[in-house]
Amino acid sequence: MRYIEFGTTKAKVSEVILGTMRIAQKAPEQVADLIEVALDSGINAVDTAPIYGPSEGLIGKAFACRPGLRDRVWLQTKLGIRPHPRVEANYFDFSYEHIMDSVENSLKELKTDHIDSLLLHRPDALMEPQEIARAFQELHDAGKVIDFGVSNQNPAMMRRLAAYLPFPITANQVQLSAAFTPMFDAFFNANMQNDAGIMRDGGILEYGAEHDMAIQAWSVLQHGYFGGVFLGDSDYQGLNDSLSRIAADHGTTPTAVAINWVLRYPAKMQAIVGTTRPERVRQSAAACDWTMTREEWYEVYLSAGNKLP
Ligand SMILES: NC(=O)c1ccc[n+]([C@@H]2O[C@H](COP(=O)([O-])OP(=O)(O)OC[C@H]3O[C@@H](n4cnc5c(N)ncnc54)[C@H](OP(=O)(O)O)[C@@H]3O)[C@@H](O)[C@H]2O)c1
Repeated sequence: MRYIEFGTTKAKVSEVILGTMRIAQKAPEQVADLIEVALDSGINAVDTAPIYGPSEGLIGKAFACRPGLRDRVWLQTKLGIRPHPRVEANYFDFSYEHIMDSVENSLKELKTDHIDSLLLHRPDALMEPQEIARAFQELHDAGKVIDFGVSNQNPAMMRRLAAYLPFPITANQVQLSAAFTPMFDAFFNANMQNDAGIMRDGGILEYGAEHDMAIQAWSVLQHGYFGGVFLGDSDYQGLNDSLSRIAADHGTTPTAVAINWVLRYPAKMQAIVGTTRPERVRQSAAACDWTMTREEWYEVYLSAGNKLP
């Protein structure tokens, strides 16, 4: 496993993070087992969010049934996605009141006295940076949250927030996989007249690298927006063939290669894996065992059906 120096404390946090969006059907004991498998594989980081149904509560119960487990884990949660009371949809809320309430509730659910990293989950159009800064300062002063970051934000949003925040934005959690590459497509096709050249993200990867923030990739094995897993999907035959060939060369699995591909970007990259199976957690941890060559990286990008100018 490789580790990055995360945030203001330079905590040693694994490049692979255990995501817990899909653990709703698990018992607390099974969640504790999954976390233990992750720790044994070198993964010391767990990501959750209040919007992931019972996830925070299950993690809290897992901590309660395994004394000492909480202290071995670097714990990240988020806030700001709320079910709308009247419309069947979520909406976004970065108000002072919601930030404070959400963190109190997360601490209770997670049965912990502090959160290592807190992310603003999805941008709230009505966000007022001064209000967010006040909430973050109070949470930090009370020892309830160590580091603060964002998710799904572009550089313009982060710049606006950073102008008011008393701390650096330590992480941005964004979607990236070998089969979901709009950030790279726009990069390669800069100043071209084709659709791939349309920049939708405003340079998220470059901004993250420039500001030394962790860039946490979510859905590293999915295509589209929760379109499904591309591993073994015949619509992605070329990609699967490349991943298998590279895996064979390195004595590893296509899963590990796909995650290694995401981690290869030269910045503080992390990959959040969403598997609920211990064996796949181990396979994911093996993603850090070697560094992909340029030829391998470009082979994966091209075999996913992308064209380079
Ligand atoms: N910030 C955000 O907006 C945001 C959005 C989405 C997710 N996230 C975070 O990112 C984490 C990961 O997201 P994700 O769950 O979408 O990521 P993922 O790791 O790409 O997908 C996990 C899913 O893929 C399945 N899977 C894994 N390997 C497979 C294989 N070899 N063959 C077939 N199926 C396989 C898993 O099933 P098994 O359980 O059976 O292995 C699981 O259902 C989440 O837990 C959450 O923490 C953040």
